[in-house]
Amino acid sequence: MAKKIIITGATGLVGKNISSELIKKSEEVIVFTRNVEAGKNKVPNASMYLKWNYDKPEEWKEHINNSKAIIHLAGANLASKRWSKKYKKIITESRIKSTQNLIKAVSEAKNKPEVFICSSAVGYYGNSGDTLLTEDSAPGNDFLANLCIQWEKAAEEIETFGIRRVSIRSGLVLSKEEGILKKFLLPYNLYVGGKLGNGNQWFPWIHINDLVNIYLFSLYNKIDGAINAVSTNPLRMKEFAFELGKTLNKPSFFKVPEFLLKVVLGEQAKAALSSLRVIPQKLNNQDFKFQFENISLCLKNLLK
Ligand SMILES: NC(=O)c1ccc[n+]([C@@H]2O[C@H](COP(=O)([O-])OP(=O)(O)OC[C@H]3O[C@@H](n4cnc5c(N)ncnc54)[C@H](OP(=O)(O)O)[C@@H]3O)[C@@H](O)[C@H]2O)c1
Repeated sequence: MAKKIIITGATGLVGKNISSELIKKSEEVIVFTRNVEAGKNKVPNASMYLKWNYDKPEEWKEHINNSKAIIHLAGANLASKRWSKKYKKIITESRIKSTQNLIKAVSEAKNKPEVFICSSAVGYYGNSGDTLLTEDSAPGNDFLANLCIQWEKAAEEIETFGIRRVSIRSGLVLSKEEGILKKFLLPYNLYVGGKLGNGNQWFPWIHINDLVNIYLFSLYNKIDGAINAVSTNPLRMKEFAFELGKTLNKPSFFKVPEFLLKVVLGEQAKAALSSLRVIPQKLNNQDFKFQFENISLCLKNLLK
């Protein structure tokens, strides 16, 4: 009986949390990583660590056989560098080519997995003002939107083998350890916290625990296609900035002006200022229970 759950990007913010939950459930987690030693430190107690270069499937494809699931999270970090032409190519190839090569390996495996869960992002919808966005809304047309469209299209290919596919359109993940919240905290700790731009843009957030539960829900339930992984209560950036200040008991009335963001971040500023009023329609229809529906409880949980 196939038991293995293969996870790429298991050493990242999302992957570490998913892996440790699955390991707690006594699942057989196989970590596909570019660096096995770092993988062992970041994801202790996995069943196996495999050196994974997505561009060299001949080195790892045999390990796909007899897996029950693949969770594909790997991809060059979107916020760690400026989006030069070269880095955009790395961002894109590390997601699309890796997805294509995983699926090619699946096509050659005798015993194929039952489910392929692939990361995506709410950036799929592009800057959408006040429009309420469900999984059926149309995609946007900027770099992130086009990345997500290609990524989901590549993942869909797995369905030709009768394998269930889920694309998790994740919102901005709030976590204690790393990610966007840590970046926000810096100005607050210097008493100059506040919103980005005019603050009217919708801010699609999710608590890391809820995101992990959505991945697990997708693994164990017969849900498929794209799923919005965001909290049930979207709020505007200015409301988020205010709640963060309240939780930290620090000022939140400063503002990072749009022009400055553009100078510092280049094209990435567009993403930071995008308005994404996303709701988790499919999860709501499935009666999925969120632990953190309210930003104030979420921030208290992470910061107090
Ligand atoms: N965090 C968020 O707020 C957020 C929001 C929406 C969508 N997402 C998506 O969810 C996925 C997981 O997010 P995360 O925050 O956990 O990401 P992360 O912390 O940046 O980790 C991603 C992992 O991908 C692997 N990786 C990094 N650069 C790579 C490259 N050039 N080629 C191949 N693999 C590479 C690394 O694993 P190894 O070093 O072990 O190989 C890394 O640990 C990502 O695809 C991300 O785009 C995240």
